[in-house]
Amino acid sequence: MITRLSKVLLVSVILFSCEPNLVDDPIPIVNFDDIVVNLSFPDFINKLNTVGGYKDVSNLGGGVRGIILYRLSATIFLAYEKNCSYTPNEACATVEVDGSGLFMIDPCCKSSFNLSNGLPTGGPAWRPLRQYRTQLNGNVLTITDEIID
Ligand code: FES
Repeated sequence: MITRLSKVLLVSVILFSCEPNLVDDPIPIVNFDDIVVNLSFPDFINKLNTVGGYKDVSNLGGGVRGIILYRLSATIFLAYEKNCSYTPNEACATVEVDGSGLFMIDPCCKSSFNLSNGLPTGGPAWRPLRQYRTQLNGNVLTITDEIID
C-alpha cells in the first residue's frame, strides 16, 4: 500500500530530478567583446600548445558563465560556453573540465560532454554545449560572440 508520504516523495522525485526534459529552456544569448588570447604567453602555452590541451579562460570574460578553450588540432580551437545546455538557468548549471581531463561535466546534475565536439555523453543533457567562433592568426586566437552550434 502506498502511503501519503510515499506519494509526496514520489511526486517530488519526478518533479525535481534532472531527467531529460525536451521542453527545456535555451541557453541565454549574450553579447561580448572579442576575447584575444596570445597563445605564446606562459599562461596559455603550457595548457594549449598540444592537441587535446584545454584551458578555462573565464577570467577573460565572455559567455554566459565563461568559456573553456580546447585545442582540436594544430589550427582548430573550440570555445565552449560553460553554461550547461540542460536547465541552463539553474544557479549551478555550469560545466567544467573533469579532473581526468578527458571530458567536461556539470557537477550539479552530472551531465557530461565530449571535449572534441561538445556533444552530451551522459546525464540528463540532450543538447550539445554552445560553441563560439574562434579565429587563429599566427599565435593570436580571437574568440567572438558568434554562436556556431
Ligand atoms: S544543470 Fe542539470 S545537467 Fe546541467
